Amino acid sequence: MSKRIVFRTASVGAVLMLVLCAGPAAAVAVVLPGPGSGEYVRKEFHSLTPEEVEAYAAGVELMKSREFIDPTSWLYQANIHGVPGGTTCGTATPGSYPAWNTCQHGTYFFLSWHRMYLYFFERILRSAVQEAIGDPDYPFALPYWNYQVHPLLPEPFRVPNNAAANPLWTPRSAWCNQGLTCVPPPASSSEVALALLHFCNCPGTSSCAGCQRYLDPLLTFGSEYSAFPQHLWNGHGQLETQPHDIVHVVIGGWMSRVDCSARDPIFYLHHANIDRLWQVWLNLGLGRANPLGADSWKNQEFTFFDETGEAVVLTGCQVVDMAGQLGYVYDGVPVENVQHCDEPIFTPDQSAQQKELLAASGDVQVELGAEPVTVIVPLSNDLDRQILETAQTDSGRILLNVDDVTLVNPGGAYSIYINLMPWEEPDPSSSHFAGNLGIFGNPNHAHEQDRSYDVTDHVVALSQKGRWTDSLEVTFVRLDPEEAEDPEVFLRVDQVSVVKQ
Ligand code: C2O
Repeated sequence: MSKRIVFRTASVGAVLMLVLCAGPAAAVAVVLPGPGSGEYVRKEFHSLTPEEVEAYAAGVELMKSREFIDPTSWLYQANIHGVPGGTTCGTATPGSYPAWNTCQHGTYFFLSWHRMYLYFFERILRSAVQEAIGDPDYPFALPYWNYQVHPLLPEPFRVPNNAAANPLWTPRSAWCNQGLTCVPPPASSSEVALALLHFCNCPGTSSCAGCQRYLDPLLTFGSEYSAFPQHLWNGHGQLETQPHDIVHVVIGGWMSRVDCSARDPIFYLHHANIDRLWQVWLNLGLGRANPLGADSWKNQEFTFFDETGEAVVLTGCQVVDMAGQLGYVYDGVPVENVQHCDEPIFTPDQSAQQKELLAASGDVQVELGAEPVTVIVPLSNDLDRQILETAQTDSGRILLNVDDVTLVNPGGAYSIYINLMPWEEPDPSSSHFAGNLGIFGNPNHAHEQDRSYDVTDHVVALSQKGRWTDSLEVTFVRLDPEEAEDPEVFLRVDQVSVVKQ
């Protein structure tokens, strides 16, 4: 099996100069490895040998030693994801350079953009590893972190415990960096996301080919339809909501902010796991498919840089097949149910479905800090019985919505329980547990976000326990462990509502 990828090398100097002068990105069509070019295996971090960990860390260190205006440097790559102001997270990177600040969140480019980003980051890191260890053939592949199996932050990222001695160390929550539970089990589950059949939905527009049509955002695997790349703060799909967002928040430190997160080496291992889960989802079949009916998802170009510092572009169509197009696989994950853009596509049901607001708390503006907070949604006038009937007969799904959530301070995540008595221990394996809430954003531009949780089965289970009444009590309980320097407030929630769909 050949391990080498043939890179495009023409006009590297010219493009690099353009880039260093901060001109527009002179992006060229990228030469992808294509089928039969050999496979890199992305392995779970804990299965690496000590030599492999050392080689990886040496590559990170080499990238970190490069000037931030070099597209193959650690800071330039991190700034492609987000650019922090001043010294918010270490070294200042003044100016503005091609492709900076282009990460896609809350849009249906979330998965494809991050796959492209990781792909070129991996090529740059591979060549840095090869240079650092003096082996031009070393088949480096980006490791991933499966926090569902290993809830502790892998040791090399926290020992030695300072940036000067350890290129993998950055500020994070004390729990993560001290080797205690870093990602609590309820935060790492991908069960809700993987069960969903639709990649994306679109809110009522007529030109929404490729996504399931709904008049409001609803639960989908990928994210919301978006005609042009932009941040849609309410378009988070379920995989983005959890584990993606929640894991960012509970790791804390730089990882809990969009603008700083890609400066933490663990970012790329987290995203490799998210990228792996995308394939795991496709492998489940039953109609699961990428939105190949959507032209913008297929053809929108995004700019990155390769290991020679040359600007390159990729489209969705070029990254649907990780093995055949990009030459990598994840250990233990077959690459199945892949559709290419030139094949007949799966078209989801396009009939619009409407959401119906059943009940709401009204404007409550509760602040979430250290203590549990309960919001009451009255279900008077027989509403409790109607909701129960809908749930029992499955004549619609019952969603619990948390509306207009503002990120006040990063780094705090919450579990949501319904009809929990004050004396009951919150138990994420009980029917009271609706899901988790964590907002991964930029604290200085706080966009309000909404979250939805399918609680249809919970309603039925609670009524069987005699715990479904005419008043719905929604309790937010801090999920990640408390820390000495916690701010008073992490999130503000304006309203809790119940909708039928
Ligand atoms: Cu663009 Cu996990 O973030």
